[in-house]
Amino acid sequence: MTAPPVRIALLGAGTVGAAVARRLVGRADLYERRTGRRFELAGVAVRDTARPREGIDPSLITDDAETLVDRADVVVEVMGGIQPARALVERALRRGVPVVTANKQLIAQHGPALHALADEHGTSLEYEGAVVAAVPVLSVVREALAGDVVTAISGVVNGSTNFVLDLVARRGVPFEEAVRQAGELGYLEADPTEDLEGLDAAAKIVILARAAWGVPVTLEDVQRRGIADLTDEDFRQAAGAGTVIKLVASAWCRGSAGHRRVEVAVRPVALPQDDPLAQARESANVLIIEAESAGTLRLQGAGAGGDETASAVLGDIVRVVRRG
Ligand SMILES: NC(=O)c1ccc[n+]([C@@H]2O[C@H](COP(=O)([O-])OP(=O)(O)OC[C@H]3O[C@@H](n4cnc5c(N)ncnc54)[C@H](OP(=O)(O)O)[C@@H]3O)[C@@H](O)[C@H]2O)c1
Repeated sequence: MTAPPVRIALLGAGTVGAAVARRLVGRADLYERRTGRRFELAGVAVRDTARPREGIDPSLITDDAETLVDRADVVVEVMGGIQPARALVERALRRGVPVVTANKQLIAQHGPALHALADEHGTSLEYEGAVVAAVPVLSVVREALAGDVVTAISGVVNGSTNFVLDLVARRGVPFEEAVRQAGELGYLEADPTEDLEGLDAAAKIVILARAAWGVPVTLEDVQRRGIADLTDEDFRQAAGAGTVIKLVASAWCRGSAGHRRVEVAVRPVALPQDDPLAQARESANVLIIEAESAGTLRLQGAGAGGDETASAVLGDIVRVVRRG
């Protein structure tokens, strides 16, 4: 007897959701080979049901996300924001349905409570795409390094601010003009606060610190300074000293079991030109993981983008389906 299809509810069809839908439909054969189950798009929840969605069967589009969640075997939340995303994720978990999300703010703010709910109902919550999109850093920290001890993580984890900083450092564009250009080119949102104030980077480093050390770090624990108040004089001084300013997110652990203290920070740092984080060009992301036995590991790649994030989201879906 063939296994029944996996009915996937997609909540959101924006940059990430549309890319997930494209691959779910276009590469169905691949996922069937990898899991032994056929993936079936059960429906796609959006706000504006009248807007045409390229590559998605119009009969699948709905604005009734709750009913869609109730009909699914796996829920994929890529709508963003806290509500109604949180309520929908909770609804799925309460039914024992696994959830895959790319929503970093939801996980940074409510991850521990959502994990507890998933455990209570014998299901799982996955979010590789929430942290540096395509770069599989959560898998490395949680799975590949399960036999080691991570001591520190640092990274350039916000491509938008890195694009701005790179324009200033390598092209000599004045800071305010670089912010304007980044907005025009679509690297910054209309309201760039989340990027410029380091809130996006803070959410990512909080999620990583929890994954590395299993501690209940929160956004309030982050020593945070964004790049919004940097001046052209700061950049001149950094260049004069042979350094380059990067927005660095870091987390480190001191002490041993029982007396562990985890610290998390996001701040602009003047780095020597040959520092691996100083090498991050344009919107690239770079992460350095230090572990007791493994030494220094370096991960690099696209920290944003529809297809890139879809890679991580689909990887999570394959994992939860394989687990059964
Ligand atoms: N974009 C990236 O590169 C990237 C990378 C990593 C992680 N993420 C995360 O992935 C998530 C999605 O990002 P995105 O860039 O794809 O966002 P987006 O382009 O703004 O798309 C959001 C989608 O969700 C739908 N939606 C929003 N609120 C809704 C509601 N209340 N009910 C039903 N549907 C709703 C929207 O519907 P309409 O189409 O009708 O407006 C849209 O289809 C976010 O949490 C983001 O942080 C994004």
